[in-house]
Amino acid sequence: MLKSRNCGDLRLTDDGSQVTLAGWVHRRRDHGGLIFIDLRDRSGFVQVVFNPESAPEAHRVAETFRGEWVVGLTGQVGVRPEGTENSRIPTGGVEVLATEARVMSQAKTPPFYINDDQPVDEALRLEYRYLDLRKEGMQRNLTLRHRIMKHIRDFLDARGFIEVETPMMIKSTPEGARDYLVPSRVSPGEFYALPQSPQQLKQLLMVAGMERYYQIARCFRDEDLRADRQPEFTQLDLEMSFVEEKDVLDLAEELFTSLVETVTPEFKLLKPFPRITFVEAMERYGSDKPDLRFGLELSELSDLALETDLGVFRTAINQGGIVKGVVAPGCADYSRKELDELTEMAKSRGAKGLVTIALGAAPSLESLAEEDVRSAVKKFLTMEQLKGIAKRMGGSPGDLLLIVAGEEAMTNAVLGHLRQELGHRLDLADPDTLAFAFIVDFPLMKWSPEEKRWDSVHHPFTSPKDQDIPFLDSAPETAHSKQYDMVCNGWELAGGSIRIHDREVQLKVFKLLGYTEEQALERFGHLLRAFEYGVPPHGGIASGLDRVVMVLAKMDNIREVIAFPKTQSAADLMMGAPSPVSKEQLEELHLQIRP
Ligand code: AMO
Repeated sequence: MLKSRNCGDLRLTDDGSQVTLAGWVHRRRDHGGLIFIDLRDRSGFVQVVFNPESAPEAHRVAETFRGEWVVGLTGQVGVRPEGTENSRIPTGGVEVLATEARVMSQAKTPPFYINDDQPVDEALRLEYRYLDLRKEGMQRNLTLRHRIMKHIRDFLDARGFIEVETPMMIKSTPEGARDYLVPSRVSPGEFYALPQSPQQLKQLLMVAGMERYYQIARCFRDEDLRADRQPEFTQLDLEMSFVEEKDVLDLAEELFTSLVETVTPEFKLLKPFPRITFVEAMERYGSDKPDLRFGLELSELSDLALETDLGVFRTAINQGGIVKGVVAPGCADYSRKELDELTEMAKSRGAKGLVTIALGAAPSLESLAEEDVRSAVKKFLTMEQLKGIAKRMGGSPGDLLLIVAGEEAMTNAVLGHLRQELGHRLDLADPDTLAFAFIVDFPLMKWSPEEKRWDSVHHPFTSPKDQDIPFLDSAPETAHSKQYDMVCNGWELAGGSIRIHDREVQLKVFKLLGYTEEQALERFGHLLRAFEYGVPPHGGIASGLDRVVMVLAKMDNIREVIAFPKTQSAADLMMGAPSPVSKEQLEELHLQIRP
């Protein structure tokens, strides 16, 4: 070894020991004759002193050192002279008096500083990711990611799960997003697809009798990217035989509870995880991934709204819609501009407008006078009606009421978004709390007006609730499924379901999705054939590991917890991918690029 100790591990108890260290020059300061460097490796950094009198040769070498050079040295650990200790760093009580030094490799001046936290343009960070990853925060994130994966593996191993790898080159089968395709050289005109998830393979492993499978699996989806979406991401994927919904949820809850309590015990974890139906989540929070760290629940106001003279309310209800609202606590003094912003937000998500009612100062809601109310719709409501609405919403003087009228799903979604925005603006979401929940009882199908056919809400292999199977023939939109999601602090961290294990039901679902039996056999023959050979009832769940690490690392973008992520336009700025390939490569693959 070129080093005997890690820089960041040295403490007062090491006083007097001889050490050989190696790492990067984090910082360098010349103080008269003495040269000080902070030497950094993965463990942290320690101060090293070069004295021209006691170690002239080492001092001469250190004079050449520059930032980010890789250097090695030998010396003795000593207690720092009184008054020069640095209590902010773990090695701040000691320093190393160097007796020998050497340069292992020189470095150009990096495009950004490694030793400070100044914000750096993300494109530059991604282009020089190997430098970006030298930073303490990124090293912390990747270490946390490792700990999380290790904990998951140990936890599942102890419960009889085995990790099975599944192939990266599979058959292209529609599963929701667009596939990434790999052209075949040996079969002209044919393609493999990279898996969007190991879904079908893990189900086949259940047919194969594996009973408890998991895999930390790479998945590929060609879809629009967002803060929590990468084209290539990692799932903790698992599947179990002979289980019902509750068994999978119990296991997931136990796993994530033990993960947080062991790996990131600094969080306040709310237990047990509530299990909320999809309908309830939409009604109360306007979202199927609600942030439960704060209340701000939506209120149904349709009955009260009908009593008023406000046209937008009445029209919405007469057209089969609803009127609902959410309170913005303490926001009665919002400016015109702030109100316009909220209105724009609502409109951009499909609302015709946003009714705002600011309840000015008053000792109580009852004593609120008309002149205390600021709202464009004031003249269409009596004060009694207005107070009735405020009371239903839980509003008090000083609050701002936000009300949307319109089609139910849109109204819930708009208010859900406003709720999230307010929670954020008003700092209602405690960053040190983790509020997990399971969302259950999703609908099985949704109608796709563009394609004029049914689409799976989760994926085609999700089982309908047993009692709802007859609805597949009559009213598919009313059938509920055995799908569940796990959410935390407003992020969807996992999704799964109990699967269809009856070939006939599976065929029926494929038919609703628009496949003839022939087409279903052509695309999913592997699964349908396997289902003729004895299938255990089975189900599972897959968790987006990048998102889990992001939440536990308190980041707000999964790129911060992935070593080499891609940009919003799916580019790898460091390697320069995607990139053109040679004519010969294309020819070998029987491909031609259209001009
Ligand atoms: P689903 O498609 O819901 O289910 O994905 C499971 C979880 O994976 C994460 N995730 C992503 N993370 C980063 N980037 C993406 N592009 C991305 N897409 C999804 C989310 C999500 O909750 N095979 C099923 C699971 C099952 O039924 O067992 C599946 O893949 O956290």
